[in-house]
Amino acid sequence: MATAFDPIGIFDSGLGGLSVVQAIRSLLPAENLLYVADSAHAPYGGRSPAFIRERALTLAGFLQAQQAKALVVACNTATAAAAETLRARFALPVIAMEPAVKLAAAATRCNVVGVLATQGTLASARFAGLLARFAGDVRVVTRPAADLVRLVERGELDGAQAIRRVEAHVNYLLHHGSDTIVLGCTHYPHLRPLIERAVGPDVAIIDTGPAVARQLRARLTELGLLRASAGSGSLRIGTSAAVEPARAVSQHLIRAHYGAVVVEALPALRTSQCEPGIQGGAR
Ligand code: DGL
Repeated sequence: MATAFDPIGIFDSGLGGLSVVQAIRSLLPAENLLYVADSAHAPYGGRSPAFIRERALTLAGFLQAQQAKALVVACNTATAAAAETLRARFALPVIAMEPAVKLAAAATRCNVVGVLATQGTLASARFAGLLARFAGDVRVVTRPAADLVRLVERGELDGAQAIRRVEAHVNYLLHHGSDTIVLGCTHYPHLRPLIERAVGPDVAIIDTGPAVARQLRARLTELGLLRASAGSGSLRIGTSAAVEPARAVSQHLIRAHYGAVVVEALPALRTSQCEPGIQGGAR
């Protein structure tokens, strides 16, 4: 049984993955969490897989150097681009996430599922594999929503613009007959109240955060790495971008659950390089 203060290392392109932190925190309140937001390079959704892999290796290397006992990739886009590379390069347990197509295909009554995700996730071989394995005769309607990522990065979870943008995406999925909607990007659960309002009570919404937390608990239990403590663990947030905006947005995203949020700059990660092959449209 682990007794040290070794944290669970978690990363995302930005602050959206705090939705996964919330799920982990609810299930494993004693764990110390170290979250890295790569906001200097967000959004990842329109970037090349090679660039995202490079960033994922840098962030995972940083978390390993901070004595992380496990890595959680709180990002569907980074999972699609880099999960296998991370597993091959790091001895740590790596818990990654992907859109819950299997669950949604089992839940739909009308045989139509809508998936909101980034352009990168939807274009990935990993997503094609998910469809091939789990969609069966269910029709899967996809919709990239980079603008929702940007809203969440700004902490804009309400207001006329957020409502309008959420409605545009959701209406597209409803118009194509979806009765079950998968939130295939960790930024979107922060907009869940708006999404719920837009879809109404008859449409199911599936967020993978709680399943990732359960999987993390199972891995830590299996490896004897659960933290044995009755008290609550700490949450530290590091950002590759400016600290003050990140502090304000983090506080807003995780609301009152944690008291004052500690956010630090991670200058070592601020190696912003130009990406020659960037795919247009989503940034
Ligand atoms: N939150 C991320 C995901 O789950 C990435 C969003 C982005 O940076 O485009 O895919």
